[in-house]
Amino acid sequence: MLNIIPQPVSILENHNKEGFKLFAQDTVTPMPCAEDFIDFKDKFFADRIKDGEGEETVILTLDGSAEHEEGYTLCCRDGKAYINAKTDTGLFMGLQTLKQMLLQCGGEVPYTEINDYPRFEYRGFMLDSGRYFYKIDDIKRIVDLMALHKLNVFHWHLTEDQGWRIEIKKYPLLTEKGSFRNHTNFGFKSHSGYYTQDDVREIVDYCHKRKIKVIPEFDIPGHTVSAIACYPYLSCFDRKLKVATHWGVKHDILCAGKESTYEFVFGVLDEIMELFPDKIIHIGGDEAVKTRWRLCPHCREEMKKHSLETEDELQMYFMSRVNSYLKEHGFSSIMWNYNEIGGARLLQPDIAWTVCSLSGKEDVVREELGRGRKLINTSSFPYYLDFPYGWNSLERVCDANAALTEDDGETWGVEGCMWTEYVPNMKKLEFLAFPRLGAIAENAWAEKGYASFGTFSQKLNDYYRLLDFYNVNYAKAQKAVPSAFYKAVSSAWFNRRVLHWQGLHNLIDNKKVEILAKKTGK
Ligand code: ACM
Ligand code: ZN
Repeated sequence: MLNIIPQPVSILENHNKEGFKLFAQDTVTPMPCAEDFIDFKDKFFADRIKDGEGEETVILTLDGSAEHEEGYTLCCRDGKAYINAKTDTGLFMGLQTLKQMLLQCGGEVPYTEINDYPRFEYRGFMLDSGRYFYKIDDIKRIVDLMALHKLNVFHWHLTEDQGWRIEIKKYPLLTEKGSFRNHTNFGFKSHSGYYTQDDVREIVDYCHKRKIKVIPEFDIPGHTVSAIACYPYLSCFDRKLKVATHWGVKHDILCAGKESTYEFVFGVLDEIMELFPDKIIHIGGDEAVKTRWRLCPHCREEMKKHSLETEDELQMYFMSRVNSYLKEHGFSSIMWNYNEIGGARLLQPDIAWTVCSLSGKEDVVREELGRGRKLINTSSFPYYLDFPYGWNSLERVCDANAALTEDDGETWGVEGCMWTEYVPNMKKLEFLAFPRLGAIAENAWAEKGYASFGTFSQKLNDYYRLLDFYNVNYAKAQKAVPSAFYKAVSSAWFNRRVLHWQGLHNLIDNKKVEILAKKTGK
């Protein structure tokens, strides 16, 4: 029985166990999409030498045999593997399946026929590089694992209260100062790091070779304390702040009433657009509390000027203006829909939403679908991968409804999110991501109705062996599907976040700004 993750649409089982062996000398049809497979072969099968010459054993053909852009057929017979597809991407997907077959069957390819294509177009993984900086090699490792799972969007969260991670030549302080955080939660150690523009180009190129699009996130107007720390004029009341040291929702956000803010945002976007050729940018929008906007004379003036009644509407005006700028340059945008539904009617419908929770928003979502808004399922339950297994157990992820509505066609895709405030290194990241990311990939790719904890459990041992080949520090079954006791322990441990709650700090700070607002007589 072949246990591929994500599950292909159809596999013709081979019961008499015939097959062929792959040797180091054997070759693959020379095409750009084969490079990654050749690296894999050299890594895992370099010492499997046969007598004599190698032959072209993996034969790639572009033709019309698969209808879907990312679909492929894989036929193993007569000592060869034939992959046919309409696109280079389809061939690449077929090679990922072949990789898993080879590892599972000890280098032997069983004779079989597979016909395969994805359920959803957008199959993503988000990495928060803001809270913790992950080195280039770490990111490449994540990208390799994404490709193995046929995930095709790397959503790269690059700016946060706790750190600015991307070099912007027009605003050099962002990385000189904004990438440095005095200490981390409980870490009591400073933390810093950023990607140069050359680093970014290297990652984008690495992803593209693996058929993965890269969507950078410049999170605005909230989650911008690291930028305000460098350029105080970006905030309401020109506040002098330090790069955030603690996790939590901050009240100082970009001022939506000053033209200088828009000039900054567009200046940053100009450089981001140069670096990310996939032409989609995530512009954040989450957790932008409006405490400052309510008091700020510039923000109030802006609201008056555009006849906006609420601060939520001001945010939608802000996001739409940024989206218009991107559109003028041939780009489109995505924003979070975490709690952000106030004033949604003012939000341009071509801004897609990564939807973090549907609860209580079903009507709004239906209305927005009607306006043509594209939706990606990033429900925190179960797709937030930083949450402990006690909250998002493997079972819960497997059994999740990947589509946001009854009709699959109304969901653009699915994305697992790795927020990193409590994920300081790859060991922890891998423990949290696997095996859950496998289940997300299955949710995103396998045919509707297939993915479930029952089917995934049957494949789990083979899946763990696959992850072992890549030395992944995954969570074993008893942790991934925890007992009631472990659930309670892991949730309590995770809830130490409460100790970092910003409540008191915000209360004092908000008072200070109120006094300041009164004093300046505005
Ligand atoms: C979010 O969880 N702040 C999108
Ligand atoms: Zn303001």
